[in-house]
Order: sequence, then structure tokens, then C-alpha cells
Amino acid sequence: MKIVKVNNYEELSAVAADLIAKQIKAKPASVIGLATGSTPIGTYKNLVEMHKRGDLNFIKVKTFNLDEYCGLARDDAQSYYYFMMDNLFKHINIPKVNIHFPAEKDSDWYDKEIAQAGGIDLQLLGIGSNGHIGFNEPEDVFHKFTRVVDLAPSTIKANARFFKKMEDVPKTAISMGIGTIMAAKKIVLIAGADKAELVKELTKPVISPQLPASILHFHPDATIITVTSR
Ligand code: GLP
Repeated sequence: MKIVKVNNYEELSAVAADLIAKQIKAKPASVIGLATGSTPIGTYKNLVEMHKRGDLNFIKVKTFNLDEYCGLARDDAQSYYYFMMDNLFKHINIPKVNIHFPAEKDSDWYDKEIAQAGGIDLQLLGIGSNGHIGFNEPEDVFHKFTRVVDLAPSTIKANARFFKKMEDVPKTAISMGIGTIMAAKKIVLIAGADKAELVKELTKPVISPQLPASILHFHPDATIITVTSR
């Protein structure tokens, strides 16, 4: 697990976007796994700027998003589909057929789709304040494949800031499994200043499903970009 320390959110976003751009330039038909949450917004802004400058072409890129809420329509402003359209897809030249989101279909549908695309070349991750990646919550086991998950009370509480009423906050989501994420050839996890303590926990040589992101110790090419006050 490689740790890259940066000074602020702007640097975090630039470093993450550069890694994604480097991947796409090296392999124009890259398969990229994407994340939502507030942390990747700056990364996506940088990618959009690179595209607008004519430096980055998404015409052959395929994307697979990590997760989506259950029960929200795609045009719901809180859906992750809407988020991705708003922050990235509608500003770049990716063909719509190349964009993939998990959905409540057969359990192994999404994993098969990813495999058919050749597997994920680079997976971008954020991290939940309880250590979750995607929506793989702290549990007694690691789940391998994409599936419907019950969100932890702490996650529901954290997500409430985006909804008008507590009743509107989804209680379930569909998420890539830990195995789906770990199968990516390269992983880049971005953690803002609010997650600095969590990243310290993560760097301890302990792997536990109670801290789902700790599984990244087993990945051969995982980079954590973390904002630290130096
Ligand atoms: C949600 C997403 C995660 C994301 C997390 C952190 O829970 N499912 O993939 O990492 O939010 O969000 P933020 O970046 O806003 O802290």
C-alpha cells in the first residue's frame, strides 16, 4: 500500500486526476471504476478541465461506478447516476453506452459485465467515515461480489446531509463487493483532511472486515492519497 501525502484538497484532486489521466493516455480504452461522495468532486473537475483543454479523450473509456442507492430514480438529484452526470459525464466525450452502474438484477450480473469489459484497470475509491469502501460496511466478513447491502446507521446519518428529511435517506444500496474492488488492476483511494485519523488506522498492519478499507494491504497496486497537516 503506497501512501502519498498532500497538503490540501486541491493537491489531492490534482494528483488523483493525473493518475487517472495517465492511465487513459497509456490505454485509451481503459476501464475505470468511479466513486461518488464529496471527495472526488475536485478530481472530476480536473478531468473535465483536461478534456476541455483537449488533453484527455474519453471516447474509448468504459466506466463502472462503485455503488448506487436502491429506490432512487436516475433523475433523482441524490442518485449517484445524477451525481456522475452532473460532475463528470455530461462534460466529457464518453459514449453513454460505456457508462455502467450497478442495479438490482441477478446477483452476479455486474461482476460479469466488468469481466466482459476486460476487468477494471483503475478503481478510484473514497472512504466512508466508518472505513467503508463502496458501500461495504464494517462487518464480520468480506463480501466478494456486487450485491444489495443494508447501510450502517452511521452511513445513513452521514448521508442525511444531502436529503431534506431523514425518511428520504435510502437504507439500502447496491455496491461492488470487496472482491470486485480488489480485482481492479490498480486502486487509488482519496481521503480528505477529515479522514486523516482514519488513514492512520488504515496504515496499521492489521486487516479486518471491521475496517473494510484495510483489505487494500493485500492489493499489489493500491495508492492512498491523503491530506495531512504538516
Ligand atoms: C459514500 C460512498 C463512498 C464514499 C463515501 C465518502 O458512502 N458510497 O463510496 O467513499 O460516501 O464520502 P465523502 O467523500 O463525502 O466523505
